[in-house]
Amino acid sequence: MKTEHPTQILTISPENLAKAADVLRAGEVVAFPTETVYGLGANAYDGVAVAKIFAAKGRPSFNPLISHGADLDMLRAEAVFDDRALSLADKFWPGPLTMILPRSPQCRISDLASAGLPTVALRVPAHPVARALITAAGVPIAAPSANASGQLSPTAPHHVMASLGGRIPLILAGGATEFGVESTVVDLSGSDVVIVRPGAITAEDIADVLDCPVTYDLGATDTPRSPGQLLRHYAPRTALRLRAVDVAPDEALLAFGSTKFMGIRGGGKATDLPEDRVRNLSEKGDLLEASANLFAYLRALDDAGSKGIAVMDIPDTGIGIAINDRLKRAAAG
Ligand code: TXA
Ligand code: MG
Repeated sequence: MKTEHPTQILTISPENLAKAADVLRAGEVVAFPTETVYGLGANAYDGVAVAKIFAAKGRPSFNPLISHGADLDMLRAEAVFDDRALSLADKFWPGPLTMILPRSPQCRISDLASAGLPTVALRVPAHPVARALITAAGVPIAAPSANASGQLSPTAPHHVMASLGGRIPLILAGGATEFGVESTVVDLSGSDVVIVRPGAITAEDIADVLDCPVTYDLGATDTPRSPGQLLRHYAPRTALRLRAVDVAPDEALLAFGSTKFMGIRGGGKATDLPEDRVRNLSEKGDLLEASANLFAYLRALDDAGSKGIAVMDIPDTGIGIAINDRLKRAAAG
């Protein structure tokens, strides 16, 4: 990927925290320390900002990201917290525990941050810099580890610089991280309590609080060993037809760029299709905008009840690679 930003490294001061929060509010990404690893954060409500995380990491696919809050209050409206979730928040937040919970009806976390899933992953980090930054930004911050795809998670600012220097505007340098491994991810979206990524907080720690069995299902993390383990990803019910150059009469259209030259098989123009059967990922052909819209639009077309979804060709460059990866999985499912 081309160099877009000279990367600034800022030490921790009230002025620099305010500056980093401004950058986040402006829809840009910022690397910051947590007690586990350095995160690459963006406003979780802003799909285009979240798309910049994937673009900077050069991630070939969209994994769901953790949204970080300054405290429980900041996250409370985003998910359905049952008694188990409230007990775990009380005991382990702030700290290295991420909970997967059902998205609430009023949830504002972007579909891209949760990869189109009906659940969200939430955490309140314990690192004072992370909490001060999130408080100043005033919105939940989506953040995976601040490294390029395929590299190790960074535990010090110079790791971030080595991996993402030139691709991100800002690194908040807050020293080495305490744990060095990512947070424990516990799935509370069903009736069973399942750890999908091990971390500093163990199954035993969680079982002690909840007084129920807690199991590990480590196939479900971001390095799935078989396609079946991708089941936690959003899959539309409607069949997808990729690289479509026309639309069948019973299909919906997921467009990218101009639809001026798209025809309906047997006669007619795509521009005449009923509104509920067309979504344009980006009329101006902007891949960041397209990735921000991808999951919401797929879901909308899936709900429109068409026989299939014709998907226009999307350039396989930059974040387009991740969009195409996701579309291929959705088409195969
Ligand atoms: O320690 C950490 O958690 C670090 C720091 C920066 O906070 N963050 C981090 O984020 O590791 P990330 O996005 O790389 O890890 C998210 C993990 C992945 O394993 C992902 O598959 C899982 O959580 N995850 C997120 N949302 C999920 C969801 N809705 N359902 C299932 N798994 C989910
Ligand atoms: Mg990572």
